[in-house]
Amino acid sequence: MPDRECDIVAGGLMVALDMDDPGEAAGLAQEIGGKVAAFKVGSQLFCGSGPGVVRRIREAGGQVFLDLKFHDIPNTVKKAAEAVKELGISFFTVHASGGARMVAAAKEAAGEAKVLAVTLLTSLDKKNIEDIGFGGEVKEQVVRLARLARNAGADGIVCSPLEVAHLRKALDDQCLLVTPGIRPAGTSSDDQARIATPAQAVREGADYLVVGRPIVQAEDRVLAVERILEEMRGHN
Ligand code: C5P
Repeated sequence: MPDRECDIVAGGLMVALDMDDPGEAAGLAQEIGGKVAAFKVGSQLFCGSGPGVVRRIREAGGQVFLDLKFHDIPNTVKKAAEAVKELGISFFTVHASGGARMVAAAKEAAGEAKVLAVTLLTSLDKKNIEDIGFGGEVKEQVVRLARLARNAGADGIVCSPLEVAHLRKALDDQCLLVTPGIRPAGTSSDDQARIATPAQAVREGADYLVVGRPIVQAEDRVLAVERILEEMRGHN
């Protein structure tokens, strides 16, 4: 295992722009763009504002992680990946359960953009997962889907901070692990249940931490970012 401490620099933080207003998103990118690795644009912002919001964030100096979680037949996902690559994004997501051919099709079209695979949504509990038709332990399902996606060419996996250590052991060292569900010490957990602090997530082996509300809703967003980066660097 390489010394992963040196991999985590200011570049390891991704800010989730979960908001409706593209002007506010671009403004925040301008304000804190130099400090963070990327801005995550999800369905809410993208569907409401259209692809123009990605261009605005990039013009403001931010890299974009487009989180639309593609899940379709390989040809459709390939075409979608070609389209989003043209926007100049740096990362985008697909569902690992779309299968190896679908993940490979995304990777083939991705160019420089990194393909991140989602295994099981953290909103699903054991019963929900059984209802879908997946048996066995949740952790085993997550590892199985993560390996499938990685073997098909995914650059990384989106996972809960509580799965990071397990996946870090199960996958190769170069596989990127990206974790939402991060809450700095002393802040509200909001609707997130399975959370970890920035320090814990880094210690467990995460490469990128996705943080939304603790930054977006902070009174001083720059200070909130700096505090999180500080926790990541100290990871104690
Ligand atoms: O505001 P908060 O820090 O909870 O935002 C986390 C972001 O990560 C949101 O955009 C959420 O949709 C996303 N996400 C998550 N859990 C997952 C996958 C994505 O919280 N398993």
